[in-house]
Amino acid sequence: MRVALITGASSGIGLATARAFVEAGIAVVGVARDPGKLAAMEGELAGRGAEVASIALDVAADDAPARAVGFALERFGRLDHLVNNAGIGSPRPVHETDDETLDYFLGLMLRAPFRLCREALKAFGDEATIVNVSSTYSLLGGLRGGAYSAAKGGLNALTLHLAAQYGSSGVRSNAVAPGVIPTPMTFHRLEDEGFRRMNLDMTPATRMGTVEDVAQAILFLSSPASGFINGQVLAVDGGWSTTKFLSEDALKAERRMVDPGFTHSGKPPRPSAARAPKET
Ligand SMILES: NC(=O)c1ccc[n+]([C@@H]2O[C@H](COP(=O)([O-])OP(=O)(O)OC[C@H]3O[C@@H](n4cnc5c(N)ncnc54)[C@H](OP(=O)(O)O)[C@@H]3O)[C@@H](O)[C@H]2O)c1
Repeated sequence: MRVALITGASSGIGLATARAFVEAGIAVVGVARDPGKLAAMEGELAGRGAEVASIALDVAADDAPARAVGFALERFGRLDHLVNNAGIGSPRPVHETDDETLDYFLGLMLRAPFRLCREALKAFGDEATIVNVSSTYSLLGGLRGGAYSAAKGGLNALTLHLAAQYGSSGVRSNAVAPGVIPTPMTFHRLEDEGFRRMNLDMTPATRMGTVEDVAQAILFLSSPASGFINGQVLAVDGGWSTTKFLSEDALKAERRMVDPGFTHSGKPPRPSAARAPKET
């Protein structure tokens, strides 16, 4: 049975990834700080007959990589997959970011994944995968990105280096870059109507992304189905970062100029509460 080490496995994207991996028959070692949340994750997955274990660690601690990888080897005797997912949100723009915050973001979302990769490389067998959880805020400029964007951009560059350096040794390295996904990290931001609209109205998809959307992408990049994919940063964002999808307000202006029935596709717009043009 293949074995995956997933950081931040007790919540949000990491928890959904742990669920997806055990459903695919992969044993999971979950890492996070809060032992209570880890126990809940372990209880849920073990209840479904999964091979699962967890270790409470701050991944940014100096001894975390050796302890996490050592624990996986001790429990399951091998390591095949690393998912560097642990992270936090709510960054500030550069001029509002003090050194302590900068060091914290870089330490958690760049230094820790770097050091975990280094440790995992020593433990991997002939074929293995690394998936780093980046962000669309590393692909384009995002307001308030600051230290968060810097860390995730570095994580993308690390992913490409790993692909080049270790691909010939059977280790594939890729990243996923989620758009805004409702999780405990983003719930409070999504209460802000402007923030919701910035994401939903400017995305061709007619719904928000889910943790399962991201988990399935991580599973795919960790599976033989993606065996010839190495060094990619895969956006999981409904097209937000790769299209210039126009908000409903901008579309209304376009319609007025071109044709009252105008839509992107030429077909009548699909009914969507989120997209319903507001009366002016
Ligand atoms: N949600 C989004 O919209 C979104 C978009 C793009 C990228 N991402 C990225 O996706 C990843 C997961 O985010 P999420 O939205 O799923 O957040 P979440 O629900 O808040 O989960 C974060 C996880 O990371 C763990 N964690 C945080 N700090 C840690 C530390 N120092 N050591 C060990 N574990 C730690 C948390 O557990 P403990 O608190 O118990 O440690 C928790 O398990 C992050 O890297 C985030 O940047 C999220």
